[in-house]
Amino acid sequence: MLLSRSHIGTSKGEGYLSIIVFGASGDLAKKKIFPAIFSLYCQGFLPHDKVQIFGYARSALTNNDLRDQLSRYLHVRAKAQPMTSSLPHAERFLSLITYISGPYNVEEGYQKLEQVIVHHEMLRAGKDGQTGRLFYLALPPSVYLQVGRNIKAYCMNTRGWNRVVLEKPFGKDLDSSNQLSSELGGLFAEEQIYRIDHYLGKEAVQNLLVLRFSNRIIQPLWSRDHVDNVQIVFKEDFGTEGRGGYFDEYGIVRDVIQNHLVQVLCLIAMEKPASLSPECIRDEKLKVLKCVEGIRHSEVVLGQYDGYLDDPTVPKGSNTPTFASIVLRICNERWDGVPFIIKAGKALDRRKGQRRGRNEFVIRLQPAEAMYMKFTVKRPGLDMSTTQSEMDLSFLQRYKGIVIPEAYERLFLDIMRGDQKHFVRRDELETSFG
Ligand code: NDP
Ligand code: BG6
Repeated sequence: MLLSRSHIGTSKGEGYLSIIVFGASGDLAKKKIFPAIFSLYCQGFLPHDKVQIFGYARSALTNNDLRDQLSRYLHVRAKAQPMTSSLPHAERFLSLITYISGPYNVEEGYQKLEQVIVHHEMLRAGKDGQTGRLFYLALPPSVYLQVGRNIKAYCMNTRGWNRVVLEKPFGKDLDSSNQLSSELGGLFAEEQIYRIDHYLGKEAVQNLLVLRFSNRIIQPLWSRDHVDNVQIVFKEDFGTEGRGGYFDEYGIVRDVIQNHLVQVLCLIAMEKPASLSPECIRDEKLKVLKCVEGIRHSEVVLGQYDGYLDDPTVPKGSNTPTFASIVLRICNERWDGVPFIIKAGKALDRRKGQRRGRNEFVIRLQPAEAMYMKFTVKRPGLDMSTTQSEMDLSFLQRYKGIVIPEAYERLFLDIMRGDQKHFVRRDELETSFG
């Protein structure tokens, strides 16, 4: 389906949009969220007269401070994507951002925010125009609830939609996740909650469904009859880099396996959905999760990279794992007996995220997206010796000139369009912790 640039302001395609980024002073907001909105703006998905962006955080910043800080990241984004390279675009985009400083737990900040939002809505959409509000919580999960409660009490849009976007981790274990879900569920309807797992916005991850269900040659091979094992491997060549405070509380399993890699597993293992509607896709993922057997202790390996404790943001003597290897088994007709080996580690020898099978079909999610199949073929020459060779689809070579969108960009567009297909549903989340 082609995207229409006009179908943005609201889910129905008209109206004015307020984007409110909580935690605007933070790492995620500056590196990913604002640049993603900027890129969409440059591509015409956010017309200048139809959007206003608000940054909210406790830090005492002025509008200009925030804009100066963001400018650097927008330029990085602009370099990566020729469409966004126009500097006047950056200036115009930055002029749309208003910063409001306030605490997360006190009503005054939200009352002030509400006034500023309404002021812009009245100016731009008039008294009767249709409006939407997108609240992005680029914040530590510890403050999700207080922010949610205050949004609900002071900042809800009464003449259009409201959507609340949350970043993983959505809890530490089943109990804390359920508690978060049920308290948020008391504030917002499930259709208003967008739980982001940015892996679901990656090009090669989205390609999994198309690859699997649009190629008849693959379908009969994709089961225990022909697959010996599936490996989902995540390797990063850098460590915690100042995020040790967060990371140490969660560890590698909660940071990437329970969410990003389990989502990839679901897309690899699920049955064909009845349609591409968000509910059908999420129903199929849920069925996979329900069939995952308990993890066997003998099939878990944990480790910590040398140097982790040197990061000043990591508590002294921590034994939090930065590496884990886990075997998951899916007890259903298609996958019974096939181990799904999941490996994830920080500060390893190279950056890599891919799903691999023996004989060997490789889908490389990053860097440099690729799919290749290894075959045994005859080595060219007079004799009949053999060699391993690949049928190779390397995206950068095959699709020259096409810029692959950032995951956050794609997901942000989905949120604006009200499409929850690539977001985690509450029951899916609960089962993934179970
Ligand atoms: P930060 O630590 O940068 O926090 C964001 C902002 O929240 C800070 O600028 C600060 O703003 C405020 N804040 C920080 N700690 C607290 C606290 N204890 N109580 C109240 N406010 C606090 O986090 P990130 O931006 O890195 O991440 C935000 C969310 O996104 C997290 O849930 C994280 O797990 C998730 N995430 C992050 C990724 C990344 O690449 N950074 C990737 C994927 C997910 P101020 O003090 O100005 O209010
Ligand atoms: C985040 C984790 O969710 O994903 C980080 O918190 C990790 O620890 C990151 O580095 C990996 O994302 P990507 O897109 O760089 O593979």
